Amino acid sequence: MLTIDLSGKIAVVTGASGQLGRVMARTLAQCGADVAVHYHKNREKAEEVAGQIQSLGVRAVPVQADVADEAGVRAMRDAIQQELGAPDIIVNNAVAQYQWVSALEQRPEDYEGQFRSCVLHNLLMAQAFVPAMIEKGWGRVVAISTECAMQNFPSQSAYVAGKRGMDGLLRVLAKEIGAHQITVNQVAPGWTISDRDREAGTESNEGYEKSVPLKRRGTDQEIANVVAFLASDLASYITGVYVPVCGGNVMPAI
Ligand SMILES: NC(=O)c1ccc[n+]([C@@H]2O[C@H](COP(=O)([O-])OP(=O)(O)OC[C@H]3O[C@@H](n4cnc5c(N)ncnc54)[C@H](OP(=O)(O)O)[C@@H]3O)[C@@H](O)[C@H]2O)c1
Repeated sequence: MLTIDLSGKIAVVTGASGQLGRVMARTLAQCGADVAVHYHKNREKAEEVAGQIQSLGVRAVPVQADVADEAGVRAMRDAIQQELGAPDIIVNNAVAQYQWVSALEQRPEDYEGQFRSCVLHNLLMAQAFVPAMIEKGWGRVVAISTECAMQNFPSQSAYVAGKRGMDGLLRVLAKEIGAHQITVNQVAPGWTISDRDREAGTESNEGYEKSVPLKRRGTDQEIANVVAFLASDLASYITGVYVPVCGGNVMPAI
């Protein structure tokens, strides 16, 4: 039977205290990986997720950093190295909040926030963790984008600019480090059902679902499944791609 086997691998998931990241972290652990559970402010949730992962019989450690702060990301790398070893898999998932307003009203701080949490985050994670992957001759960089990066809807200019900037960095990086058998890919969720919706009873949204070819919203688990696949040897010949996981809501042209 073909399975996603990450046993013996070490992963770090940024924003693992958040809605989608916590499921990615647990899913990588279910595939056998040890996982560093990154958080920014919500230590309690990161500890809870790390506890759930440990109960699966693999190692987990909560780690804190501002992902746009160079010294902070390096300190996080050193803490992970000490607790778990050098990660083979990095999942760059964290994102900062911003105000959904028109470009004419958007504050420059929102642009800076998206640049920092999308572009700089991915740069600093690569600089911190890819050198050890090069030494091993194997590695996985999985970055979380969004269907919004292709939709260009009104009020999302800061978010779209951040994710599109990140896309440029990641495609160049895929070419620069591919020779070391390190793949660099993006997973782009649609508007996804997570704990927040389950708690509020807001899983269904007719207006959105109508536009989706599969006629439903996707789940956090369906996003995490693709992250696990791209992190595995099953995806060994895929790099430089943007994978929409949004029921067909966006379809990049060939
Ligand atoms: N949810 C969706 O429907 C959806 C759709 C498309 C794409 N996405 C993408 O999926 C990813 C996760 O989204 P989400 O909805 O799960 O987000 P979320 O629940 O808002 O979680 C965001 C995470 O990022 C962390 N974070 C925020 N600012 C940070 C900073 N400066 N430094 C370090 N960490 C920081 C937060 O940490 P603390 O909470 O610990 O402070 C939290 O863990 C994002 O890249 C997003 O663009 C989500």
